[in-house]
Amino acid sequence: MTTQYLSAEDSTTPQIAAEIIKNGELVAIPTETVYGLGADGLNPDAVAKIFAAKGRPQDNPLILHIADAADLEKFCHSIPESAWALAEKFWPGPLTMVLPAKDIVPKCTTAGLPTVAVRCPDCEITRQIIRKAGVPVAAPSANISGKPSTTTAKHVYHDHNGKIPLIVDGGPCRVGVESTIIDLTDEKPRLLRPGGITVEAMAEIVGEIVIDKAVTGSIDKDTVVKAPGMKYRHYAPECSVIIVDGSTEAAARYIKKRYQPGNRVLCFEEELDAFSAFAPLSYGKEADTDTLLAGLFAALRELDDPSIGTVFARCPAGSGKGMAVQNRLLKAAGFHRVNAERFVLGITGGTGCGKTTLLKAFESIGGVIMDCDAIYHELLKTNASLLYSIEDRFPGCVEAGKLNRKKLGAIVFSDPAALADLNAITHGAVKAEVQRRLEVASTPVAIDAIGLFEGGLYELCDATVAITAPLEDRIARLTVRDNITTEQAMLRINAQKPESWFRENCDYILENNGAAIDFQEKCLAFFDKLSIIKKKA
Ligand code: TXA
Ligand code: MG
Repeated sequence: MTTQYLSAEDSTTPQIAAEIIKNGELVAIPTETVYGLGADGLNPDAVAKIFAAKGRPQDNPLILHIADAADLEKFCHSIPESAWALAEKFWPGPLTMVLPAKDIVPKCTTAGLPTVAVRCPDCEITRQIIRKAGVPVAAPSANISGKPSTTTAKHVYHDHNGKIPLIVDGGPCRVGVESTIIDLTDEKPRLLRPGGITVEAMAEIVGEIVIDKAVTGSIDKDTVVKAPGMKYRHYAPECSVIIVDGSTEAAARYIKKRYQPGNRVLCFEEELDAFSAFAPLSYGKEADTDTLLAGLFAALRELDDPSIGTVFARCPAGSGKGMAVQNRLLKAAGFHRVNAERFVLGITGGTGCGKTTLLKAFESIGGVIMDCDAIYHELLKTNASLLYSIEDRFPGCVEAGKLNRKKLGAIVFSDPAALADLNAITHGAVKAEVQRRLEVASTPVAIDAIGLFEGGLYELCDATVAITAPLEDRIARLTVRDNITTEQAMLRINAQKPESWFRENCDYILENNGAAIDFQEKCLAFFDKLSIIKKKA
């Protein structure tokens, strides 16, 4: 099929487009939000072509586009006053309302739902096309399913050239993200998708609006959601996207530690200088959210390249129109979001030095402790691949899915090479798990690990600290705590790395050489010095 390409400026375009739609074929249409892939919304065969062209899941319903607000009555029943009030204020415009559907709307348009989504777009040419076609136009965003939406005719060309009869070029879309969707079929209005019309602006007309959890959180595939489209990974370029929160400086530090050649940073125009070492791409001004909305999808399309590997993205605050930017970015990132401001402290030191006091002090400032020994034992229960790796290297040490610690201990403690092999297996698994947990942590984190350095965990830390204590204090602590003799305590201490080793390798040393209460004070002063808790500006 050859795809015709017509300008919205040509006076004959609306008639040509309307004829194609009446004939049950597809037309890519401009709107103020994004380009849509339009067809006669009352014709099941035509609607089926939309699903086929986009590769869209069948359970994801379409929006019906109408030319005049009054047409709402043709396709919906039980229309509440609030719907008319919203239409009066925001139509034509980037707002879609979900209402009970009349029988005239085919099941394939609504994906079998008793409701239908309707919108009157603020785009003169498209409203003319709808009027001339004499039918409501069902149109999803014109992108291939899962890809960033199309905000220029060229994006549509890229996704559909040769597959649809006509693209109408109306220039770049003014708003740049898809319409706000509000469901008016419940007791309270519910926001299903944030867009160019803000919750704040709608609330002035309809009062309290419930924010559907799909707007801000990740929804698993089997959850029943109000807007079926919200559960799919969306807008995603062919590389992984990580949202990096926090100040520009903190984000630059975070990225610097992880940056690989080829990676990109998606940021605000104001930050281009700060990220100049990381191939930054600006999508708009942080100070002007409209520019971020308008630029987001074009930028995500530019980053749609597997050779990039990772995109570190900056995201605006979630109020007003920022909510729509944040929602699209979160989906592009598969909800992968980190806080560059959260401090990660690596804690180590010899046995009996009083690490517990420091850990308690850390918790008292709201920090979270990742006890790597506990994580290892948890992984032995939950991570089959760890158990299999141990079993492969140490046959007979895993019985019925459980590690036989005695057997394994007998092997590794008499054979340094075997111990090194075991450590290579366990350290890798523990590090991966700690990394996974760090990505979702929002408070300061302390990684508590004897093998902080051997296991490579120090690489995940912003700073490392070792606790030291006078030998006689350590012996006294161990004999009481573990009910052992002085000789046994000495054996344990000598089996570990000497204090000098910690002094050489750690960023900081904290000496526990006074009363417990003094050491606690010392720890708190130390956290303060490191600015582990960010003070509000
Ligand atoms: O700005 C827009 O709305 C663009 C332009 C072309 O108008 N269209 C658009 O369509 O974004 P689409 O198909 O990409 O997104 C429609 C969303 C999907 O998440 C879908 O699940 C939801 O609307 N939806 C459609 N009908 C619904 C219904 N009856 N109840 C709940 N959600 C519905
Ligand atoms: Mg879409």
